[in-house]
Amino acid sequence: MKAIAIKTFGGPDGLTAIDLPDPSPANGEVLIATEAIGVGGVDALIRSGVLGDYGFKEGHILGSEVAGTVAAVGDGVDPAWIGRRVWAFVGLQGGYAEQAVAPAAALVPLPGDLSAAEAVTLGTSGIVAHFALRHAHFAAGETVLVRGAAGGIGIMTVQLAIRGGAGAVAVTTSSAERGERLRELGATHILDRAGPPGEQDAPAGFDVVVDIVAGPALPSFLAKLNANGRLVAVGLMGGAPPADFGMGLFAAFQQSLSFATFSANTVPEADRLAVTAELFAAAERGELDAVVHELLPLEDAVLAHRRMEAGEVFGRIVLTPRTSNGASPHVEW
Ligand SMILES: NC(=O)c1ccc[n+]([C@@H]2O[C@H](COP(=O)([O-])OP(=O)(O)OC[C@H]3O[C@@H](n4cnc5c(N)ncnc54)[C@H](OP(=O)(O)O)[C@@H]3O)[C@@H](O)[C@H]2O)c1
Repeated sequence: MKAIAIKTFGGPDGLTAIDLPDPSPANGEVLIATEAIGVGGVDALIRSGVLGDYGFKEGHILGSEVAGTVAAVGDGVDPAWIGRRVWAFVGLQGGYAEQAVAPAAALVPLPGDLSAAEAVTLGTSGIVAHFALRHAHFAAGETVLVRGAAGGIGIMTVQLAIRGGAGAVAVTTSSAERGERLRELGATHILDRAGPPGEQDAPAGFDVVVDIVAGPALPSFLAKLNANGRLVAVGLMGGAPPADFGMGLFAAFQQSLSFATFSANTVPEADRLAVTAELFAAAERGELDAVVHELLPLEDAVLAHRRMEAGEVFGRIVLTPRTSNGASPHVEW
């Protein structure tokens, strides 16, 4: 089968297509013939090499979420899964391939009309957005700021905050055009990516900040918290924050501010799967938008990463493997 590997850490051109033996599902696993593969910010970080400390090595096959059809099952797995359309988180490896293995216990069936591309756009992003808001103890009526909002996680956070009854949902993003698209998805105020100055009528402070960026500007966003405000860091798109970033919290001691990191890894799998199924059902009812930026063939993973690198992507790029006759599968979205 075709797969995409990191030949050399660094830019998008370090990705290369390789041939691998077809994987076979082990005990408790299924084999998925992939129709859609999500491309996200974490893939770009792994490809760049900055996550080497976490054990990623050259030769790594990127890709953490796929959707497609179960083609085979390993020992101990109900054969009734074969032929079913499913979404799966496959870990932080192995997704950029024509076939991927996943634990049978980690599958979410795709409801009725939900396409594979929609599923990989909603899946991990939705889990992170949902549980990050919960980690922040977000409650209806509160004001929310989503930092780095035009990506997969940001778009889902905006939509879920609105569904949860937020009093306002401000976003930081990198262009006015992206801001307008976020407004169509429910954002109420569009701020400059660097923070202030923003829209004149934007809330002066926020109860919750969901931060996908971190980086040198993180302290200025801690400073935008209301009393009892909570900032939850879910990503590092802008790099690490300054080493002394927490000093502002102490300087504002009497405001009772909180900073937390959040990783979906700490959410029990059963809860992740239940929420994913709920989000898929909500999307099918038309209550959530899966924003697919573009569908590209698997072999164009380099192009997908160039687009991300250039900051062109609004939502998710989705890779679609070609079938054995050379045609891209029909993916509706
Ligand atoms: N906590 C978890 O469990 C979890 C799970 C998966 C991924 N992540 C992390 O979440 C982050 C990516 O999220 P994603 O999948 O939503 O990524 P994404 O779809 O690639 O979007 C990231 C967004 O961040 C902004 N951005 C990109 N580069 C930036 C830069 N240099 N400085 C400031 N902003 C920048 C852009 O938004 P604007 O144009 O709007 O500024 C971009 O759309 C990664 O750090 C990843 O490791 C966390």
